[in-house]
Amino acid sequence: MADKWDINVADRLLQLPPYFFGQLNRMKDEKFSTGVDIIDLGMGNPMEPAPKVVIDKLCEAANDLGKHRYSAPCGILSLRRELSQLYERLYNVTLDPDTEVIATIGSKEGFSHLCLAIMGPGDTAVVGDPYFPIHVHSVMLAGGNVINVEMGNDQAFLDRVKYVIEKTSPKPKVLILNYPHNPTAMTVDGVDFFEAVVDLAKQAGIYVIHDFAYWRTCFGDYKAPSFLQAKGAKDVGVEFVTLSKPYNMAGWRIGFCVGNKEMVRALGCIKGYYDYGIFEPIQIAATVAMQEGEPDIVQQNKLYEARRDIVVDGVRRLGWEIDCTRGTMFVWAKVSEAHLAGQGSIDFALRMMAEADVSIAPGRVFGENGEGCVRIALVENEQRLRQAIRNMDGALNKGIEAPTASKLKEKG
Ligand SMILES: Cc1ncc(COP(=O)(O)O)c(C=O)c1O
Repeated sequence: MADKWDINVADRLLQLPPYFFGQLNRMKDEKFSTGVDIIDLGMGNPMEPAPKVVIDKLCEAANDLGKHRYSAPCGILSLRRELSQLYERLYNVTLDPDTEVIATIGSKEGFSHLCLAIMGPGDTAVVGDPYFPIHVHSVMLAGGNVINVEMGNDQAFLDRVKYVIEKTSPKPKVLILNYPHNPTAMTVDGVDFFEAVVDLAKQAGIYVIHDFAYWRTCFGDYKAPSFLQAKGAKDVGVEFVTLSKPYNMAGWRIGFCVGNKEMVRALGCIKGYYDYGIFEPIQIAATVAMQEGEPDIVQQNKLYEARRDIVVDGVRRLGWEIDCTRGTMFVWAKVSEAHLAGQGSIDFALRMMAEADVSIAPGRVFGENGEGCVRIALVENEQRLRQAIRNMDGALNKGIEAPTASKLKEKG
């Protein structure tokens, strides 16, 4: 059921599901106002600050009073050049900064506006389920339809996509992908998978949008491949990257859309109508992030990896099913039947907020296939993550004294 409105809003707003995190956040605020310490693992909102060198550059550039005017809607050339050079260094992919790169106000804005630019009534997008909600809602807001297929990261997933494309009339227009994936943290091994995607897209005559938000959030030896590394990828699609996650710049709102010239042009065209570009000092500081922020990325990933180990271990001790992830800032777990106690994941998450003072995201808000699962964001420090596991264990095993870390260890 959609949100209720007191004014006569457009139909496109009425089709959207109610915003679950609004309800969770209200509960959190109520508890917080009575002095309860909530451990918030609900959203992937990085806790650590942006690199100091980037903040210093922002301050310096903001003091240049010539840089306070409207900027370029597509991003200043030096910023787009820097991103091109980074793609060359990281992926050996050559991008023309003038035609194949556009800066966006975070990847969410870019993604939504690209959908608005290329999709409309009668157009269909194919999206894996579970999905990052924007991947579905942006298509709906653009007037398009969404067909979900069970999410995956292998040939079987591509076979499902192919089947749906063949069976749908009119033929779907866009395939939306996201690896490393939010919420499931699924990754793909190498470029082979994306080469199969390009083949499929060419055969089926559909466009590909790859949301590469977790391009740099990888652990151990794993390096997430870029879709654009696949031969012919630029013929069929684009990729979105963001500075929000790797450089802890979520509030700065800066990302990019790169790849297929015509798709980049379509996004640039619509952005020309909607916005005047990102505050220029932010663009200048973002350039420095890409030049000098590499050590900060390494350090941040180490933090996430250590947190992942704690949560994966803790969640296994709770008896939930979980795969150890090698990318993203999330852990995705299937809650045990005993702990779900006949509830859906939304009620379960609300219960964890009410009884364990822990905020987690219920899998159902990421699609039907997310039911029974929860997403835990690795945004709090190690001590608080351990506390969160203890709190949940205590709430789920009521009547039994909430176990200490050593008790949890004994149990494992
Ligand atoms: C898969 C995915 N895409 C896009 C975004 C939005 O990123 P940005 O801050 O660049 O808008 C997020 C943020 O959580 C995400 O997880």
